Amino acid sequence: MDGLKTIGAVSLADFMRRHWQRRPLLARQAIPGFASPIGPEGVAALAARDDVESRLIDSTGDRWSLEHGPFERLPSKRRRWTLLVQGVDLHDDAVHALLQRFRFLPDARLDDLMVSYATNGGGVGPHVDSYDVFLLQAHGRRRWQVAPPGDATLQPGLPVKRLANFQPTEEWVLEPGDMLYLPPGWQHDGVALGECMTFSIGFRAPSRHEFLSAWLAAAGDAPGGPDPRFGDRGRTASARPGELPADLLETLRGWAQGWRPTTRDIDRFIGCFVTEPKPQVWFETPVPMPLPRFASAASRAGVVVDRRTRIAWRGPWLFVNGESHEVPSAGRAALRRLADHRHLDGDACRSTLDDAVVATLLHQWYGAGWIRLGAPRR
Ligand code: SIN
Ligand code: CO
Repeated sequence: MDGLKTIGAVSLADFMRRHWQRRPLLARQAIPGFASPIGPEGVAALAARDDVESRLIDSTGDRWSLEHGPFERLPSKRRRWTLLVQGVDLHDDAVHALLQRFRFLPDARLDDLMVSYATNGGGVGPHVDSYDVFLLQAHGRRRWQVAPPGDATLQPGLPVKRLANFQPTEEWVLEPGDMLYLPPGWQHDGVALGECMTFSIGFRAPSRHEFLSAWLAAAGDAPGGPDPRFGDRGRTASARPGELPADLLETLRGWAQGWRPTTRDIDRFIGCFVTEPKPQVWFETPVPMPLPRFASAASRAGVVVDRRTRIAWRGPWLFVNGESHEVPSAGRAALRRLADHRHLDGDACRSTLDDAVVATLLHQWYGAGWIRLGAPRR
């Protein structure tokens, strides 16, 4: 499946210049002839699994309740509810392929594809999200109302974050294949007109605090350098044992202030941080295969990156599922290509696997279930 070339009638260049992170865009038939890669039964089956993140919001009679999955059974369709299933792209190759159409944005920004299935009148209520989103109507119709960022007061006492004073400025009814782009902070409310299904193509954008706490936690595990321990030979007897000793303070302060991570260390961490798989992700490992057999199979069939794998490159680095590898220049082009296309065909593998570093890495990733033999499943 090719990447999107336009967002409705708007070229990608114009979309990025005029809309991305700036203003909404409604794109009628953004995906012409769109056929949903997953149906309501498929979504319900995912919601029954304990390795899938799902929520159910029931608003029957304007009494709001929120439950977290797994759900063995869903409420009666006479009730007003919506089921939200996160990360469907991790579990379904066809949904993953649909998400790939949005790779005109870097993988490091793309998050996941969430599916919402709602009964008539169902929705999550007016709210804001901190991230950009494409809301693609997959089945049935949904009315979207939106308003620019504004009064963020929440209705008190509800289990969901529902805006108290939502004043929509625009409204559209979306049909299958229609798509609405919303920048972060735009207020929105989607109500199902009859039962319907909507896909949210979501993005990620680390905040300063999120990044720094991850960085400091990792640095705490492995700060590098020597590891002296505080000592106080020569201390004199104290009559004020409650006072924090100045020498302890100075030594520890000096360690904190003298800690100067290199740009290389920080950049390397960023690559690992951004490619860390989501917490609930696990990989299916294949039957082990010795390297020579793997190399000859890959030279015939090619390799494809598993849909759950996060992979990125920058300079000499290749990052995969939270690991970093400094790749010698001979192997870089092939591994960058693998990250960009998520696939290397047999010919590309044949010319690449001569490089011992590349061959070892691909073989390791194959063994971990991070890449597979073959071509992308569509
Ligand atoms: C939904 O599809 O009902 C919720 C998606 C959203 O508003 O972000
Ligand atoms: Co939203």
